[in-house]
Amino acid sequence: MSALEKALARIAPVVKEGEGSPIRKIKSLMEARPDMLSLAMGEANFPPPEELLDAAVRALRGGRNLYTSTNGIPAVREAVARFAARWWDADLDPERHVLMTVGGMEALHLAARILVSPGDRVLLPDPGWGMTRVVHERLGAELEFYPLRRDPAWSIDVDAILERLDPGVKVVAVNSPSNPTGAVLSREGWSRLLEATREMGVFVLSDEVYHNYAYSEPYTSSLAFGPPDNVVVVQSFSKTFAVTGWRLGYAVAHPDVLRQMATYKESISLCSFSVGQFALAEYLDHSDPYLAWANDLCRGNMERVVERLDGLPGVRCAMPEGGFYAFPDLSEIEPSCQLQTERLLTGGVAVVPGGFFGGEGVGCLRVGIAAPYEQIAPALDRFEERVVAWHQA
Ligand SMILES: Cc1ncc(COP(=O)(O)O)c(C=O)c1O
Repeated sequence: MSALEKALARIAPVVKEGEGSPIRKIKSLMEARPDMLSLAMGEANFPPPEELLDAAVRALRGGRNLYTSTNGIPAVREAVARFAARWWDADLDPERHVLMTVGGMEALHLAARILVSPGDRVLLPDPGWGMTRVVHERLGAELEFYPLRRDPAWSIDVDAILERLDPGVKVVAVNSPSNPTGAVLSREGWSRLLEATREMGVFVLSDEVYHNYAYSEPYTSSLAFGPPDNVVVVQSFSKTFAVTGWRLGYAVAHPDVLRQMATYKESISLCSFSVGQFALAEYLDHSDPYLAWANDLCRGNMERVVERLDGLPGVRCAMPEGGFYAFPDLSEIEPSCQLQTERLLTGGVAVVPGGFFGGEGVGCLRVGIAAPYEQIAPALDRFEERVVAWHQA
């Protein structure tokens, strides 16, 4: 054995490599096969706001390329607090409640790292975004799941959470609007959940990165119910302004939790994307017209895509309450979503298997709608061709 082989043999694997996200795998596949059409996108494939890009160029050219403080520049945290007051009726102290992060992803990692110790019980949605599960699993949490209500439209059933809640649960994760189902927690639902968790001393990890994409009723944030005492919010500009590559988001939390998260962040990323912080500090106050435009685009797409999918033989697809994804059920034709995905890939169209999001998602597929409709339509044609042929077989 060479010295290098010996050194490598001493590395205990920290992660199971086969467990990587299928979404990242599909992204690599798409890069290798340009003929493939994708409905697997987990991001906004429409243009970011011009005004934001101009502000970013000014920041870039104006020398804003160095480290910022770990928590983020005061101007952007103040702009976030104003945004949260305007949109979510939240009362945040930018100094004590807001931490700029490397996307919502870092906010999620930091929150979980600070809130969860090995053996802690964490309640997660099923179906739910796979990364939330993976992050908690790697921290040694005991995972428990609450089902979303499949009928009529995969809504978040607060009773299903409350039935599983006791003071021994450390954290309840909520994702509203949900990836992958678009479920949106209602104002009444939030109020009941927050009251119960506050009484029991349970933390709520609220992932609100799709906040701008609620379609059936006005969006309610967990921050509308007073200071973030037992709530940690994961937020991001990625989906809101179609800048997933910027890697910029933020966390909102109780000052004691936030200070811990900020100190931990120092050893991971030091600070968040400087140029983006300066640009958003300038732009956030003027972002309402873009937010309305992006919501309209996605709502229109969602209606068209759902109508088309639900009209296919053997496919059931309810109109989601929000989000970037339709979540059609194809189990009548083929119960295995892995097989469904593979057959669609052979037909030249990529989607994400519902089983990636948990046992409740098996039999379903995640279909992205956040792109100009002309871009989605040819992929839907292929989807339709494949499904119709398959149903007839
Ligand atoms: C539910 C949810 N939360 C958080 C994220 C992370 O987003 P980002 O790190 O780009 O802000 C994603 C990305 O797909 C997501 O779907």
